[in-house]
Amino acid sequence: MKFRDFIQAVISGLQLPWYQRLIPFLIRAAERSLEAQSKLGDSIDATNIREHITHQNRPPNRLDRLLQWLVGGKPNLLDREPYDALQGIYAATDTAFFMASAVAKKYTSWLGSRSWVAGDPGIRIKHLNVWVAQDASLPVFRSNVDLLEYTINNIDTLGMLHATDRPETFELRTEFLDDYQRKDPGTPVGATVALTKQSVSHLVIASMTYDGKEYDRRDQIPEQAAHAVLRGVVAYMTIASHAFHAHYQSSARVAALSQSMLPMSHPVRQVLMPTELGTTNSAARAARTLLGEDGPLVRVFPFTYIGLCAMRRNYTTHPIASDSPFPGHRVATDYNVWWTYITKYMSDVVDALYPAGTTTLDPVAKEWLQAVDGRVSRTEDRAALIRVLTSAFMIQVRHNFMSNRIVSHIVRYMSILEPSETRVARALLTMVMFKGTELRWVPITRDFSSNIDHREARAVMRAFYQGMAGIRVSHELSQPHEIEASTGM
Ligand SMILES: [Fe+2]
Repeated sequence: MKFRDFIQAVISGLQLPWYQRLIPFLIRAAERSLEAQSKLGDSIDATNIREHITHQNRPPNRLDRLLQWLVGGKPNLLDREPYDALQGIYAATDTAFFMASAVAKKYTSWLGSRSWVAGDPGIRIKHLNVWVAQDASLPVFRSNVDLLEYTINNIDTLGMLHATDRPETFELRTEFLDDYQRKDPGTPVGATVALTKQSVSHLVIASMTYDGKEYDRRDQIPEQAAHAVLRGVVAYMTIASHAFHAHYQSSARVAALSQSMLPMSHPVRQVLMPTELGTTNSAARAARTLLGEDGPLVRVFPFTYIGLCAMRRNYTTHPIASDSPFPGHRVATDYNVWWTYITKYMSDVVDALYPAGTTTLDPVAKEWLQAVDGRVSRTEDRAALIRVLTSAFMIQVRHNFMSNRIVSHIVRYMSILEPSETRVARALLTMVMFKGTELRWVPITRDFSSNIDHREARAVMRAFYQGMAGIRVSHELSQPHEIEASTGM
């Protein structure tokens, strides 16, 4: 937010009751912290990346410990056996973020239980429009059914999409979500949404089965039902595929293993280093603030903490193969382009480091690979290494479809269109999310190849970074400059 906009927001805020005037100050504190992160992102390059990685992995100092104690947040949704999730994962660098979180947490928990502060729906819409800048490039929605359809087409819902026996017909299946404990057991969130392909890149909702009833035309679907289904989808995406899978399982866990098992002089570590940036910090920060048992994310979703824990436990990564079962889905099509591109260069890197037929992996790389992948056999460790390296870069592309300005836009609309929403806490969280996801981090196109000591591997990775300019994808969020190098923010 520019200073002028901020002042304007404060002036408009003076018309609001006192308890809502605090919101811009909270947002400003969180924003400052995020801006500092984003400035940090600008300063990282191949000459100083090792220094940044070392700095990020410092064990917490006394002040950090004090702040963590203030924020609390244990247990959290990333606690997980058998990985012992947070061992070696520190959030040691961002004092301002912790301060903002501590205040925001108290504030949202106070507001969360007070439905009277929200006022009528008109006032809520006004708040959202006052504090959240409208993005003119994003569509305006009239209904939750429209919003659900847009969500299915524009973010990573692939884990819930299924092909059917009929050609050009797909289903979004979310009934499984009703098995997880919810705060309001009387309102199901699961449904089967039938979709037909309208054009090469657009699925249209044809009908929906929800709460034992079939709505066999799009225009018969009740708004309440579409909204409940959206809430389930967003919760699942945020907790299972975004926080757990992308941030923790595929990024922070792998980075923590690299940090403890591969020295910085190891070529595999050097190739992967950009994907390590800030990842353990961001997961540790989220675990201790957003994802805590009574944290703001747990508060806003329709599931209980127990329900979300079970959801995360049962989550299995959906594979992105080159033979995607969703021909024509924009996101799936673009994933395949990236998958093919990254796989080619990672095969070349492995060939450069471990020439086929002559060399097997060194024991250090082997042990690390076993820890990361878990299913490496002696004969196929080169293939496993290619797969692990490809996944480390690919998760950045996928992460961009789980957290971005479109997701923020959807969540914001959900708050506006919510039929019975009475909590300001959710609006506040939406705003903070907006700010957080708008800021830029290190882009995947930044060339870190000169950090690599091994000559041939360096040449391959230089070509990898430079060749990205030639990648042709359809969705704006798949464009190389849109994708970040790591899930570190
Ligand atoms: Fe994220």
